[in-house]
Amino acid sequence: MSRNIITITLAAAAIFVSGCNGDHGSPVGSEGWLTGDVNEKFETVADHIGGFGKAMWEVDYRFQELWWAGQDGNWEYAAHQIEELEETLELGLERRPARAASAQQFMTKTIPDVGEAIEARDTEMFDRRINLMLNTCNSCHALEDMQFLTVKPPLQRKSSIR
Ligand code: HEC
Repeated sequence: MSRNIITITLAAAAIFVSGCNGDHGSPVGSEGWLTGDVNEKFETVADHIGGFGKAMWEVDYRFQELWWAGQDGNWEYAAHQIEELEETLELGLERRPARAASAQQFMTKTIPDVGEAIEARDTEMFDRRINLMLNTCNSCHALEDMQFLTVKPPLQRKSSIR
């Protein structure tokens, strides 16, 4: 029995050591996935980072966390989430500037309005303004011909932060 355990342990160690040899795990080595000249490598990295869809993934998560932070009256967490949400959207728009016009209301009015409610620590104001934010998410989706992306109030928490 203990002999079997030793054999298995040695086999696992051998696999681990052989896995550490050569270029495995390095993106730029001879067997790496970043090939071609510098421009081609940047294009590959850009493809992996993604365009607006990946930004939206994060925006959606942060919007939901922001929503619950407001319900909890956790204003510092709400302030953190709205800041991150804004930055994520800014970076997404930097990658896809053609979307910027549709996001103008969201960036210049909606975010500051919710920010004001957070700063005032005013639950009633926050509830009103986060609902307006939700509508502005949907207006932008409509402007971008994506009416099927209907944002609604979250039903379940995504993270373990309370
Ligand atoms: C530019 C205006 C714009 C704003 C503002 C905006 N969205 Fe989006 N959203 C888009 C576009 C465009 C897509 C499709 C992106 C793609 O896949 O290329 C999208 C996609 C999404 C998706 C689907 C992502 C996926 O592919 O799985 C979700 C979820 C989403 N948005 C949530 C939100 C939420 C929540 C808000 C507000 C807090 C918001 N969006 C604000 C334009 C916007």
